[in-house]
Amino acid sequence: MIDFIDVSKKYTDESDYVFEHFNLHIDRGEIVAFIGESGIGKTTLINLLLKDIEPTSGEIIVDGKDIAKIRVRRLPYYRRELGVIFQDFRLVPELTAYENVRMAMIGAGGWNKNSLKRISSIFSMLGIARLHNKRPDEMSGGEQQKVCMARAIVNYPRILLADEPTGNLDPKSSEEIFNLLKIINNQGITVIVSTHDQERLKGTNWRVIELNESNGFTGLSKNIKNSEAENYE
Ligand SMILES: Nc1ncnc2c1ncn2[C@@H]1O[C@H](COP(=O)(O)OP(=O)(O)OP(=O)(O)O)[C@@H](O)[C@H]1O
Ligand SMILES: [Mg+2]
Repeated sequence: MIDFIDVSKKYTDESDYVFEHFNLHIDRGEIVAFIGESGIGKTTLINLLLKDIEPTSGEIIVDGKDIAKIRVRRLPYYRRELGVIFQDFRLVPELTAYENVRMAMIGAGGWNKNSLKRISSIFSMLGIARLHNKRPDEMSGGEQQKVCMARAIVNYPRILLADEPTGNLDPKSSEEIFNLLKIINNQGITVIVSTHDQERLKGTNWRVIELNESNGFTGLSKNIKNSEAENYE
């Protein structure tokens, strides 16, 4: 369902490659974790899939389509196939949990007479029915992230992208979020998560992709740090 074919990325002509000749195949229904040190390129991979940024070379195929060829006009339709959650939640502060999710449905043009039921059933699946009328400032970080998950899957995406979803959470909330990622994956949604939290992946059967020199990741920021360190020596 997702193929990175010989993909290389550098951000500017002058900068070094973040990674070169990266190849990866992800099957429909898989749950995959990207791990690797800070600055290695986890967010870059997720932003490439979102088509927020473009590869320097190589192809990214999603559902049989080369996403480089998606026209700007079609981009919203492509993005609708992707649900996404971030480390910093990004809920609308003035709106309740329910209203935040409803807004995503209306935004995607998917609001109809069954939508209320759809939101209720997702809230119960994620165990957040009691948060229905709460605003973000009345919720814990873990609770906000669960509402973000509801928002990410409400429009029936085929893929959920989660960029460090537990980066701001305590261990107990992180465990809950990881459990919910699995529950979402069990619905048939392909899940890609980036994480620092290697410990939490132990005991799961998730496919773990470690980003390092062996698959083309250069550790750019480490190199920069090292050369800065050298300058001080
Ligand atoms: N917009 C940008 N312009 C230039 N360089 C960038 C940009 N975004 C990221 N980089 C560089 O690309 C490399 C990979 O960054 P990325 O954010 O993908 O890492 P990451 O693995 O997500 O790190 P973290 O774990 O800290 O979130 C880093 O060296 C970073 O400095
Ligand atoms: Mg990142």
